[in-house]
Amino acid sequence: MKILTIESTCDETAAAVITDKFEVLSSIVASQEELHQKFNGVVPEIAARAHVERILPVIAETLDRAGISLSDLDAIAVANEPGLAGSLLVGVVAAKALCLAHEIPLVAVNHLQAHIFACRLAAEKNVFPCVGLIVSGGHSNLYKCNTALDFVPLGGTIDDAAGEAFDKVATMLGLPYPGGPSISKAALEGDDKAYQFPRPFLRDKNSLDFSFSGLKTAVRYEIAGQGQVDFSKLEIPQSKIADVAASFQAAVVDCLTGKAMLALKQSGMDTLCVGGGVAANHVLRERLQSECLAAGVTLHIAPFKLCTDNAVMGAIAIERLNAGLLEDLSLDISPGLMRIGKS
Ligand code: KG4
Ligand code: ZN
Repeated sequence: MKILTIESTCDETAAAVITDKFEVLSSIVASQEELHQKFNGVVPEIAARAHVERILPVIAETLDRAGISLSDLDAIAVANEPGLAGSLLVGVVAAKALCLAHEIPLVAVNHLQAHIFACRLAAEKNVFPCVGLIVSGGHSNLYKCNTALDFVPLGGTIDDAAGEAFDKVATMLGLPYPGGPSISKAALEGDDKAYQFPRPFLRDKNSLDFSFSGLKTAVRYEIAGQGQVDFSKLEIPQSKIADVAASFQAAVVDCLTGKAMLALKQSGMDTLCVGGGVAANHVLRERLQSECLAAGVTLHIAPFKLCTDNAVMGAIAIERLNAGLLEDLSLDISPGLMRIGKS
């Protein structure tokens, strides 16, 4: 079987052709990074318009590289939740139109389950049941993942996502968007103990939640004090940028690692899977590796190219196909998180 997977939940327009044996015949990710850079974050309206322009060329090129045409496909899968409404709509409408015109079965993909499925693909073997940590620009969540398609929420951020905090702190420090890679680069030269930024909930053994908003505010007060400030006009010494970046990153890594280990302990699971853009962070990866080794936990972190949004992780559609979970043309988008759970 060959399936086309489509991903347009945020600001990457992506497509891939994958077999039912999880072989990737082609994969394209058209990033919109340059469009959003001057706004220091994703502008939903711009993202949706860019998806409209790119989706059909990306699909055509993906099929071309796989050496197949639409008539060779056994199914089309599309991420329909969660994400930005306008962005999701473009992928879902494209998938539905192609399925209708070519009489191809339609499969829905939950983007968060797909981020964890990236670990399954890299491991080339079953990784479930496991605790799943999804850390991206839009999400910071912990799940008990009973199977690839059965996620039970354990905790999550009560305000900003971890990636969002990286992006906002980068803007304050005058570092380019996306903030994750630029903060971790700046942090290489810094002292991660120079500033003691807050680690909300970390010591609370009854909570598996995160909060990154106060951390962001603490960074702001450290570099600019209180009140209105134009960060683009701030002149921060290079050594302070490096120290703040390293100390901020250490606080995020402490919180993510601490809660992931607590979730493992409380759920009695011995496998941790980590996905999403922030999972590309070297300090987080190293810290998770050492903590999991010490605790006897098997760790699967998505490989770098499958951390940020891509359509390869849409291979989770094979699991849905095998479970007989097909959609009809009434398939809708679901921008929020609410529906994740047993399918
Ligand atoms: O998963 P993703 O591509 O998109 C969403 O679903 O949100 O994640 C993008 C996020 C951005 O906030 C970006 O700053 C962050 O992932 N990110 C990183 C790193 N690389 C990307 N955060 C920390 N360290 C990194 N190396
Ligand atoms: Zn994502």
